[in-house]
Amino acid sequence: MINLTNLSKTYFGRFGSHEALRDVNLHVERGDVFGIIGQSGAGKSTLVRCINLLERPTEGSVIIDGKDVTAYRGKELSQLRESIGMIFQNFSLFQQRTVLRNVTFPLELRREDKTAAEKRALELLELVGLADKAASYPSQLSGGQQQRVAIARALANNPEIMLCDEATSALDTMTTHAILDLLRDINKELGVTMVVITHSLSVAKQICNKVAVIEGGAIAEVGATDEVFGNPQSDATRRLIAADSGLSVEEFEAARAATSKEA
Ligand SMILES: Nc1ncnc2c1ncn2[C@@H]1O[C@H](COP(=O)(O)OP(=O)(O)OP(=O)(O)O)[C@@H](O)[C@H]1O
Ligand SMILES: [Mg+2]
Repeated sequence: MINLTNLSKTYFGRFGSHEALRDVNLHVERGDVFGIIGQSGAGKSTLVRCINLLERPTEGSVIIDGKDVTAYRGKELSQLRESIGMIFQNFSLFQQRTVLRNVTFPLELRREDKTAAEKRALELLELVGLADKAASYPSQLSGGQQQRVAIARALANNPEIMLCDEATSALDTMTTHAILDLLRDINKELGVTMVVITHSLSVAKQICNKVAVIEGGAIAEVGATDEVFGNPQSDATRRLIAADSGLSVEEFEAARAATSKEA
């Protein structure tokens, strides 16, 4: 469904250039919840923003459903973005709009009939468990509720793909679980393919069927989530797992060697 081939992105600035992505090749299949995991600055946001062309790759191609969209502009680009929902760490809601009008916003952009748009928005708020908050403003909601509104808004255009950039990083553990459950339901019941960016192993383990580990702008390892974390093949993955358990890589390796001897 999503094919990234030989994707590179270099940012050019006044103080030199920075290679944020280096020759990335990834294949996301329809129905996947595909995790991209890596430490801060690894290039995760850059990578996900290349999928809907919020960032233009310096080299390589973005292929969606067999179509090379890398050079899309204008109307083609707007249509592509409509078919891809996106949610962020900071929710990015419109503070001056009610919850309902946040969700109708993408439909207003498409000049959809107002009554139809409101009906659709209410259905989506029902889906995310917030029908009773339609008339509230974002500032009157908890973080978890705000993220649910953002999810409803991302679903307004019936996207086939949803991009989630650290969608639960600002939430506590219980709320994170609830939001991840909601995303998994949306994947299963609506068949939305998801790309989930995270620096958290537990987030990736909870919802992703596949993961790619990214370090220094390059993909270090890709595979089924259990395989990658259960039997890491790259130093980048070992570093992530070690850091997650508060260990150095040496301590992590020693602990693994000890437990595998016991088994
Ligand atoms: N617009 C930009 N101009 C210049 N450099 C940038 C720009 N955006 C990102 N970078 C650099 O590219 C690298 C990758 O950034 P990116 O935001 O993709 O990382 P990330 O993995 O999402 O990190 P985090 O977990 O902190 O969000 C970083 O070194 C960053 O400083
Ligand atoms: Mg980021």
